[in-house]
Amino acid sequence: MCGIVGAYVASGDVVPGLVQGLSVLEYRGYDSAGIAAVIDGELRVRKRRGRLSNLEEALEDGGLSGGLAGIGHTRWATHGVPSDVNSHPHQGASGRVAVVHNGIIENYALLKRELLEGGESFLSETDTEVLARLIDQTWAEEGTDQAALMRAMRRALGRVSGYYAIAVLATTDDGTCLLAMRQGPPLVVGTTEDGGFLSSDVLGLVPHTRQVVYLEDGDLAQLEPGRLTVTDAAGDVVERPSREVEWDPSDSGRGGYPHYMLKEIHEQPDVIERTCIDRIDLASGDVRFEGGAFDDAFCNSIERIQILGCGTALHAGQIARYLIEGLAGLPVEFDFASEFRYRSPRVAPGTVALAITQSGETADTLGATRLARELGARVASICNVAGSSQVRESEATILTHAGPEIGVASTKAFTAQLTAAVLLAVRIARSRGTMSEDEGRALLTELSELRPKVESLLTQESVARTRDAARTHAGARGFLFLGRGVNFPVALEGALKLKEIAYVHAEGYAAGEMKHGPIALIDPGMAVLVVNAEGPVAEKTRSNIEQVKARGGVTVSVGSDGASHAIADSYVPVPRTSEWLSPILNTIPLQLISYHIAEIHGCDIDKPRNLAKSVTVE
Ligand code: AGP
Repeated sequence: MCGIVGAYVASGDVVPGLVQGLSVLEYRGYDSAGIAAVIDGELRVRKRRGRLSNLEEALEDGGLSGGLAGIGHTRWATHGVPSDVNSHPHQGASGRVAVVHNGIIENYALLKRELLEGGESFLSETDTEVLARLIDQTWAEEGTDQAALMRAMRRALGRVSGYYAIAVLATTDDGTCLLAMRQGPPLVVGTTEDGGFLSSDVLGLVPHTRQVVYLEDGDLAQLEPGRLTVTDAAGDVVERPSREVEWDPSDSGRGGYPHYMLKEIHEQPDVIERTCIDRIDLASGDVRFEGGAFDDAFCNSIERIQILGCGTALHAGQIARYLIEGLAGLPVEFDFASEFRYRSPRVAPGTVALAITQSGETADTLGATRLARELGARVASICNVAGSSQVRESEATILTHAGPEIGVASTKAFTAQLTAAVLLAVRIARSRGTMSEDEGRALLTELSELRPKVESLLTQESVARTRDAARTHAGARGFLFLGRGVNFPVALEGALKLKEIAYVHAEGYAAGEMKHGPIALIDPGMAVLVVNAEGPVAEKTRSNIEQVKARGGVTVSVGSDGASHAIADSYVPVPRTSEWLSPILNTIPLQLISYHIAEIHGCDIDKPRNLAKSVTVE
């Protein structure tokens, strides 16, 4: 939700690197983009509504070329419509301070009123301009040098309530100053001999360095070439640990695919294998996580699991519930992280709050797990980003090895989460003795041999089949996705994907619930996709296909249940596997069908309207 970058280089021109950083972070928001740079001691700004390409055009005048220090922003609008004037960076009245911001200043209206009463005037409707003017005004009271600016930042931000990751660029009496401060949203910094760099996520840093430092809440960092100084909330200079990033700069490219989403769908054979293969111990029919996470002592202490997440990640959590209850016999609840805090959750002794999150920075998920901890739960997570806030706040983590996911619609991160959930369920079940060595070995063997089945769903022929299904149904008035048991959340995920990238109304429903309401929607204009795998619930789900057909509905059967294919109007076959693993396979054709429908409708697949990848505000 907004991406910020900043750099102070020893030589050359800072702007191309900032633009490149923004191109990598554009998935975090794409309502506008802007850059500020110091040129010959003067702070200059270019900013444009819309995509980064608009800013690149504006930069062609060369007015920002040749500077050594700069900051940049790609916006997901919260306060004020997307427009040039509301774009970041924002400046203070002195013209010597520019600010980019990711987050929300909750008391901005109050602060703005005070500033207006004091004679300030505003150009934009944003909360960020309030911050810029407040910092600038406070700086004027403190002095004119860098030390004064840092004192001013602390004072000004001490008056702010809300969440922010900000970068500040200033021309001070003692030179150019690049500062960053964090309270909530993520901020990563790194330095080399050639420069000091900051970014909302590691993807913006890996072109410069793999050694990164995650700032903590309350940290204020000053960046110069080869030098990073961090002071904590108390104002003391601190050393934050530096971590090596495994991701490669090439991971953030499209790799020849027309869209990140398609590339990421095709990465799933690797991702699923990477997430499970080194953790599976076939000899013991068990799972071993790095660093002994989820060992017997931990697993046996769990009385109950509370799963928390949002969107796609919560759908993975819903499947995890079936797996853990079914295999390990533990009570599991799940909740929207965004709702958990707004009811009165009862956290029983022995509860583990399990956060599932790709980014590890989703504000609602972080907030919910913090509350669960306050209420006595231990916190664990399934997460894709090592070093993220969620990982740092978890006692035990299963990292999914999906690599960077750039497409706003989550695909490979979801199947990696499902894979991790299978591993976790087996680990708990083996530890608690609800699964024998042979049973563990059988399921883990099936998982370790899943790759060819995943690949078979991504052959030209299989992809063509999903494209045909998309062509046949793209004009449908609406879509109903049905599933039962462990495949019910797959139906929810299928519907979310379609809404998200193709802007088509779709509902995911538990197949058995259809006759309690949604059946009234069935007519020839409604496409009904039924997810059905062989297993104990297959026959019941087949009945749902019959019920839809009897009412003139159009059915597409997706899964391994051949008998469903025989009765549906059309079908997309999926290889047979254990019912517990079937969600991993069944998801893939649904991703492709949504992708192709979005393509047919001419949608911006990687940057769907109104969305942002990481929702770092509530
Ligand atoms: C999925 O396609 C969405 N982009 C969204 O639902 C996402 O899964 C959700 O915002 C959670 O994000 P997280 O996994 O990074 O916490």
